[in-house]
Amino acid sequence: MSGPVTKIGSPGSRPPYPAPLAILADMKDEVIATVRSSVPPGENWPDLRKTWGFRRDPLTPLLDCYERYGPVFSIRVLFGANVFMIGPEANHFMLVSGRENFSWRKGRMGDLIPLLGDGLLTTDGQFHDTSRALIMPAFHRERVVAAAEVMAAEAAGAADAIDAAEPLDVYHWTRDLAMRIAMQALFGFDPDSNRAEEMAATFERGLGFYGREYPMQLIWGPFTPASRMHADRRRLEELVGAEIARRRERGGGGEADGADILSSLIDATDEDGERLAESHVLDHVLTLLFAGHDTTTSTVSFLAYELARHPEWVKRLRAELDEVCGDREPTTEELFSGLPLLTRAVDETLRLYPPAWIGARRCVRDYEFEGVKVGAGLPVAYSSWVSHRLPDVFENPHDFEPDRFEPEARAKWPRGAYVPFGMGPRVCIGKRFGYTEVHAIAAALIRRFDLELPDDYKLTIQQAPTLSPRGGLPMRLTPA
Ligand code: HEM
Repeated sequence: MSGPVTKIGSPGSRPPYPAPLAILADMKDEVIATVRSSVPPGENWPDLRKTWGFRRDPLTPLLDCYERYGPVFSIRVLFGANVFMIGPEANHFMLVSGRENFSWRKGRMGDLIPLLGDGLLTTDGQFHDTSRALIMPAFHRERVVAAAEVMAAEAAGAADAIDAAEPLDVYHWTRDLAMRIAMQALFGFDPDSNRAEEMAATFERGLGFYGREYPMQLIWGPFTPASRMHADRRRLEELVGAEIARRRERGGGGEADGADILSSLIDATDEDGERLAESHVLDHVLTLLFAGHDTTTSTVSFLAYELARHPEWVKRLRAELDEVCGDREPTTEELFSGLPLLTRAVDETLRLYPPAWIGARRCVRDYEFEGVKVGAGLPVAYSSWVSHRLPDVFENPHDFEPDRFEPEARAKWPRGAYVPFGMGPRVCIGKRFGYTEVHAIAAALIRRFDLELPDDYKLTIQQAPTLSPRGGLPMRLTPA
């Protein structure tokens, strides 16, 4: 593998870190924006009670602000004003027509740099675009076909092993399964091997840092959550670095080791034959692990939750699976596009609970949207979660109604209305991969079990690092 590639250039300076420095930088930017009258109207007074409420349930106050102030407003959370852009047009502006006004790296995404480094989620501009072009082949159809076979086999094996006599935490069951799939698809590791288990455990521990309450993330120094997360990152560097070195020693790049994504990244070349530097391969593969793992786990869990509340949908989906697949597991083609009812149910789940619910950016130049001025330096976010719940766009927005995804009905939605994978040039690179994985796991469960929630279960939603059922999802599964 060659050294760093000059064409890719540098990812740019890192946002201020540790977190307390970032807070000071944000405060300075907000003062400047206030003096220049470019903080949008909204809930801008400091209010601890509201901040606490927002951290537990951001959906209600954000919908309320949309109602009162329109598609652009700001809301103070903890120490700083955060601008939100809500609704189809605002989504399109942030993700397509006005996207040059925003940086991912300088926004809250930059907080992920200590764990993920300079991957696609934490970079912008030429560095990002060149990296994305090099990574893209790893997500071409034929690559996902290979991964889909692993997904279907792993999902069937895990579902067969469920002991229906015992309650099951569907969230944690899915999380383990998704990690086994990721270990094979990303690294070509046997998921039962020691190295896969250590990699998975180290990554989960490192990621756990971002699920902690924010004040805990601010503490800096030895023996703190931050220092443990840094130690996990160092261990991940060793583990992935050893695997890259092993493949290089054997020669033939990664391809000799099969069709996993690490191989594609090691072998990726641009039109001049230049390759990704080793440190970039590491950052990209960790970013893919992060971006794909939580999101698919949450989608399966929320789908299971809604199916338990809508047994009529379990019947419809099982009838579809019986008709299309009979006694066998779905084929890759069927997972891709042969189960339209299941796809509708997955789409509706992603409307109600889009795991990557907030697209956090920083405004890097002044702009105006629908007559509201937004000043450079302010944190700005779009939110699929809030946009997907707007009553002026979706009828009965809080209800699980998968048939709203019938093609004719869907064609009437304005562009930017439905964005669970983002949109535009930075739309989710793993969309087909994640979609297929969710279908494979959901199909394995629905074919085998009826799903039931405990009588006293009440869903509460954790928002970081992605939406997930707080405390897991206890369920009782009864053989179908
Ligand atoms: C149901 C599953 C998934 C959902 C809902 C999802 C959602 C998203 C969303 C909303 C974005 C854009 C974020 C923004 O605009 O701020 C995104 C980006 C991304 N996703 Fe996914 N994702 C899923 C699965 C995956 C998988 C399986 C992978 C990789 C294996 C992946 C890798 C990425 C990457 C690398 C990006 C950044 C792309 C770029 O900036 O060029 N995602 N995803």
